[in-house]
Amino acid sequence: MSKNILVTGGCGFIGSNFVRFVLANRDDVKITNLDVLTYSGNPENLADLQNDSRYNFVHGDIRDEELLGKLFDECDAVVHFAAESHVDRSILDSKPFIESNVLGTQILLDAARKAWGTEKGRFVHVSTDEVYGDLPLDKPELLFTESTPLNPHSPYSSSKAASDLLVMAAHHTFGLNVNITRCSNNFGPYQFPEKVIPLFVTNLIEGKKVPLYGDGRNVRDWLHVDDHCEAILTVLEKGINGEVYNIGGNNERSNLELTHMILEVMGKGKDMIQPVEDRLGHDRRYAIDPTKIKTQLGWQPTRSAWPQALEATVKWYVDNAGWWQRVKSGAYREYYQKQYG
Ligand SMILES: NC(=O)c1ccc[n+]([C@@H]2O[C@H](COP(=O)([O-])OP(=O)(O)OC[C@H]3O[C@@H](n4cnc5c(N)ncnc54)[C@H](O)[C@@H]3O)[C@@H](O)[C@H]2O)c1
Repeated sequence: MSKNILVTGGCGFIGSNFVRFVLANRDDVKITNLDVLTYSGNPENLADLQNDSRYNFVHGDIRDEELLGKLFDECDAVVHFAAESHVDRSILDSKPFIESNVLGTQILLDAARKAWGTEKGRFVHVSTDEVYGDLPLDKPELLFTESTPLNPHSPYSSSKAASDLLVMAAHHTFGLNVNITRCSNNFGPYQFPEKVIPLFVTNLIEGKKVPLYGDGRNVRDWLHVDDHCEAILTVLEKGINGEVYNIGGNNERSNLELTHMILEVMGKGKDMIQPVEDRLGHDRRYAIDPTKIKTQLGWQPTRSAWPQALEATVKWYVDNAGWWQRVKSGAYREYYQKQYG
């Protein structure tokens, strides 16, 4: 097992849940969290670990080669979450996606290769099912497997697919020890409230309507973030060098079904739905076949069953209004100043 893990993007939604998950489940591991704190990076997500000697936060960019040189000397694995992650933002401006997701990943790979060569280290690259493109609604038997061809549609998913290819190039060309994980949509605590579940829940608490894209029939495969974190840790500990693992929970829901469930949990009527013009190039359906990680590594989800897991997530946002209010108002940016100067 790796003892010193460099986590990139650990102040974001999944990264912060991963840091907390690993430290709660492994005693002998130290984590360095490298995060540049874009708009979605919030060190308050890990405020509870402030005094844990196994956790160290470094404010910096994955494109800072000098900084990476120092950090890689002290770690034996990297779990790479850092990315621009929101499809809608990539449609408005794709440049930051190329800079962080593509160039940033290549710089990180070069630093790992220089520090570790072919013998040591493990580079786990956290990717997405969106690199496979989408599936038709009328063929429910079709699922994404690891051998489904990459066919990304948005600037976001294209930048992630490019980074996946660069990771495999580092493996084949230089012998770097790598894994790629491709997960479906995550839900759970600390998700930036631009993404559908926290956006809808917090809008409803604020008395606002929820903006539903197009006909609402687009289907996503929902997995609880802690199941995702456990799967990534499983890949880090047991993954076969050079392999890709799909991660999902066979939990397909249309956006309309998701919206109705949120409205029901929150005791609101369907009149709170505000239909809005569809997202450009909106993928119809994502659905993961997780057979490989189940059979090869023995992982399967245990925390993602609906409606309970969705209800618990809605309750988290209701109970932690201070957290998302500081995010929505921008006040969360003051936390870094207070803690780190
Ligand atoms: N959210 C999902 O449902 C989902 C599903 C599958 C895969 N993923 C992947 O998981 C990863 C994390 O997603 P998320 O939802 O937590 O995203 P997020 O936007 O919440 O967090 C991204 C984090 O990366 C940091 N970051 C961005 N650019 C950086 C840079 N150049 N240097 C250092 N730090 C940088 C940000 O400050 C932020 O803390 C992404 O790679 C994403 O593609 C997400």
